[in-house]
Amino acid sequence: MLKLAPRMEQVKYEIRDIVVRAKQVEKKGKKMHWLNIGDPNQFDFLPPEHVRKAAAEAAASGKYSAYCPSQGDEELRVAVGKIEGVPAEHTFITSGLSEGIDFLFTALIGIGEEALLPNPTYPLYVSKARVHGASDAYYPSDSDFIPVAEELRKSVTGKTRSIVVINPNNPTGATYPRKVLQEIADVAAEFKLPLIADEIYDQLTLDEDHSINMRDVAGDDVLLITGNGISKNYLYPGARVGYLAVRGPGAEELSSALLKLCNARLSVNWEMQRAALAAFTGPKTHLAETKRKLRERRDVMMKRFSEMGGVHCARPTAAFYALPKFEGLKFKDDKEFVYSMIEETGIVMVPGSAFSPHLDGIYARLVFLPKPDELNEAMDKLGDFLKKSRK
Ligand SMILES: Cc1ncc(COP(=O)(O)O)c(C=O)c1O
Repeated sequence: MLKLAPRMEQVKYEIRDIVVRAKQVEKKGKKMHWLNIGDPNQFDFLPPEHVRKAAAEAAASGKYSAYCPSQGDEELRVAVGKIEGVPAEHTFITSGLSEGIDFLFTALIGIGEEALLPNPTYPLYVSKARVHGASDAYYPSDSDFIPVAEELRKSVTGKTRSIVVINPNNPTGATYPRKVLQEIADVAAEFKLPLIADEIYDQLTLDEDHSINMRDVAGDDVLLITGNGISKNYLYPGARVGYLAVRGPGAEELSSALLKLCNARLSVNWEMQRAALAAFTGPKTHLAETKRKLRERRDVMMKRFSEMGGVHCARPTAAFYALPKFEGLKFKDDKEFVYSMIEETGIVMVPGSAFSPHLDGIYARLVFLPKPDELNEAMDKLGDFLKKSRK
């Protein structure tokens, strides 16, 4: 039998694992409601036309069929530098922000050390920390999933090597107030910890123009690394283009490390980087319609939850996720709840425990991406299922 490296034990991605079970149920002929995966393009969303055109033109020209400079397309890095207020030399184009997260943990966190993550968190951070032999620690949030700064301060240990902020948040759809961001930046400055701001949903706020960016809050005394990309704000997850932008004390050293990691992986698809350039520098007119659709669907979901009883859901203010708590059910844990729901209703959600070991009770993450009539159909089934599943 093939002996795999022990680190493979740490590679888990429940968001996708759950699909395996759901596919088995679908094979039996059940109508499925795929509320598990945060990919708008599997619903009625598309990248803006001018961005798709830029990708097509870049491919047709043949000019971008070579290896790109490993740090990224130069024009794209200048554009990213302008957005983030850093010199282009401190910007790094990555294969999705996912690769950027991998680079950051490789560069910053050693074996036996810790990444301090929001509770709950996007699971990729957990996997990446563990694969690097580090561990995941969490700083608490309140019942609306807003971090509590005082608790963050207490969560810092001698092993902490970076603080991660995900704003707007996956899996909760929460956006953080300026005061909370300021307090987080203050803690990072106080302990001289690199602050990683994952802002991949920053344009997808549902009630505000955009979320508050850490770059507008953190002072010069913080090593700030901002991560973003075109997967969400520009509805182009398949392009696989993300970026990191670095500023503050230690920016030179971290940039040298990131450049090495970029060199070691050669480059990111150049044609798609040209599409990203069109996205960042072109019109943002798609946002109004995208946000209108998401707002309408969020409101449908929240109304239906409020009518069901026993469902408590912090109102998402951005992105397309919600993390409701389901009370009074007969299930022993969130996995039993989710698997039973898949079997009985065809509704697929992700158990809350995939996002945090510290959630008390039965939570599950869903996306509110389907059209209102499809969402309503799923909500009818969910309501019936919950009624049947009471203790
Ligand atoms: C919070 C967060 N960060 C990063 C990513 C990864 O983004 P990318 O598609 O750019 O790799 C995701 C994807 O869902 C996400 O939700």
